[in-house]
Amino acid sequence: MQVHIADHPLIAHKLTVLRDERTDSPTFRRLADELVTLLAYEATRDVVVESVPVRTPVTDTTGVRLAGPRPLVVPILRAGLGMLEGMQRLLPTAEVGFLGMVRNEETLEADTYAERLPEDLSGRHCFALDPMLATGGSLAAAMHYLAGRGAERITAVCLLAAPEGIEHVTGEAEKLGVPVSLVVAGCDERLNENGYIVPGLGDAGDRLYGTAD
Ligand code: PRP
Ligand code: URA
Repeated sequence: MQVHIADHPLIAHKLTVLRDERTDSPTFRRLADELVTLLAYEATRDVVVESVPVRTPVTDTTGVRLAGPRPLVVPILRAGLGMLEGMQRLLPTAEVGFLGMVRNEETLEADTYAERLPEDLSGRHCFALDPMLATGGSLAAAMHYLAGRGAERITAVCLLAAPEGIEHVTGEAEKLGVPVSLVVAGCDERLNENGYIVPGLGDAGDRLYGTAD
């Protein structure tokens, strides 16, 4: 799995405000949105394009446009929803599928409670959006869904990762038989005993949308 950890002062600045416990939900949502758009630039580096003729006011020339089939963007509910608009800003013609997953906070295993994906993903470049890559269980399960439906390439876009999660997802990606890459704004020190990223930013879903229970 190709891993790209962003190294950019603007991304580091926004990530720091996102981490701050005093940052309120509206600001958290806006920053998550801005960060995704910055990460999307890197995540879409290898989308496939095709040549297209274009007439400028000066002459005829050749440009490019996104080649079909359309990319598929998959936010992993609930927190991944906070990344959707930021991704769509760069890929407005992408189709959107949904995966609902919740981590059991005792076992740390991901449970899938909703799935709305095209049956056949042959030839499609799929972008999985999830702010937190902690144990990697949720992202690994999402990647298995996408590869199982025939995705040609999978790119995960995350805000924060733990080394343990990257290692787990790297191992799972090797089993999929399709190219997988990860673009992430930062990789932190470790997971704590509750499976939270340290120093992290807390519970991304709660900070975006409020407590769920
Ligand atoms: C969080 C986060 C990831 C997952 C990461 O979701 O948004 O999906 O945990 O943890 P993992 O790498 O150990 O699987 P959560 O299960 O809290 O659900 P939510 O998005 O509804 O808040
Ligand atoms: N999910 C979160 O929202 N935050 C973490 O640190 C780990 C999992």
